[in-house]
Amino acid sequence: MSSLQTRLTEFLNIEHPIISAPMAFAATGQLAAAVSAAGGLGLIGGGYGDADWLTAAFDESGNQPVGCGFITWSLAENPSLLDLALERSPQAMMFSFGDASTFVEKTKAQGIKSICQVQSVAQAIEAAKWGADIIIAQGSEAGGHGAIRATLPLVPAIVDAVGDRSIVVAAGGIADGRGLAAALTLGAEGVLMGTRFYCASEAAVDEEAHDLAIDATGDNTVKSSVIDHVRGKNWPSPYKLHTLPNVYLDKWHGNEEALIARADEEMATYDQAGVVRDYNTRAVIVGEGVGLVASTEPAAAIIENCVAEAVGSLRGSFALVR
Ligand SMILES: Cc1cc2nc3c(=O)[nH]c(=O)nc-3n(C[C@H](O)[C@H](O)[C@H](O)COP(=O)(O)O)c2cc1C
Repeated sequence: MSSLQTRLTEFLNIEHPIISAPMAFAATGQLAAAVSAAGGLGLIGGGYGDADWLTAAFDESGNQPVGCGFITWSLAENPSLLDLALERSPQAMMFSFGDASTFVEKTKAQGIKSICQVQSVAQAIEAAKWGADIIIAQGSEAGGHGAIRATLPLVPAIVDAVGDRSIVVAAGGIADGRGLAAALTLGAEGVLMGTRFYCASEAAVDEEAHDLAIDATGDNTVKSSVIDHVRGKNWPSPYKLHTLPNVYLDKWHGNEEALIARADEEMATYDQAGVVRDYNTRAVIVGEGVGLVASTEPAAAIIENCVAEAVGSLRGSFALVR
């Protein structure tokens, strides 16, 4: 199999320039370990932070060299979770959504590599000042939380702004080898994929949610605060959650004031929908790239197919040059 060597593969000492996103709840130790075993870097989804869950996830990853990611504003409410993760000697720590300056400093002081996910050029410049080794340029196509700028113009702008200080990795709407090839052409040194690995067989995702993701075209995803209100997650502006549409979102999106007025009842409804796997209410958290995912596969197959397809795309593009 051909390979793609970049500053990212060299820096992380991995075979393929692919990182799996630290998806809250979905990115368990099993998924992260499978990605790392297949030559990428797997990140455990530390998410909003739960010490027991995190410990179990690291245990589950066994001896594989995995990393871990946190939602920065949430970590700031319980910063001792970073110590818990650092004690497990992760390959890298990733921070997204908020001021991670002190977390980056602490991580680097322990000799651990740091990754910051950003949504704008200004945030990328800040993250480079904090000393982030790797900056993930996340476009609004991304599944999960994100902001406004689109991947295609954001990635090269961030490469121009910080490219010699931090290693830039693209995220958002990249779900196959064509996206990987495009990201490298834009000047990124690799990709971070969430939606594609949400559909990995190792992800902690119900079969019902996987089926809905596989059937989706990517044409009608929704960005909303509805699900954050009913999960009691106090997300700062401008972040919205990118999901598939469903009956519940149709009812409440654009009607948030009424939803907040009956938050207690709706939180109970949303919780119960999780228990009974009712995806008319519960959201399937994926981005636009979901339309490129045709089946659930093991993480190793995802990585192998993406790399092979990217190599083919890059060779094909080269053939156009006269
Ligand atoms: C199910 C899901 C959960 C996510 N949870 C987190 C999270 O907890 N922390 C985080 O930094 N990013 C999270 N993300 C966003 C990813 O880090 C990443 O930016 C995104 O998945 C990239 O775009 P893609 O989904 O098109 O591949 C999540 C994404 C998905 C799909």
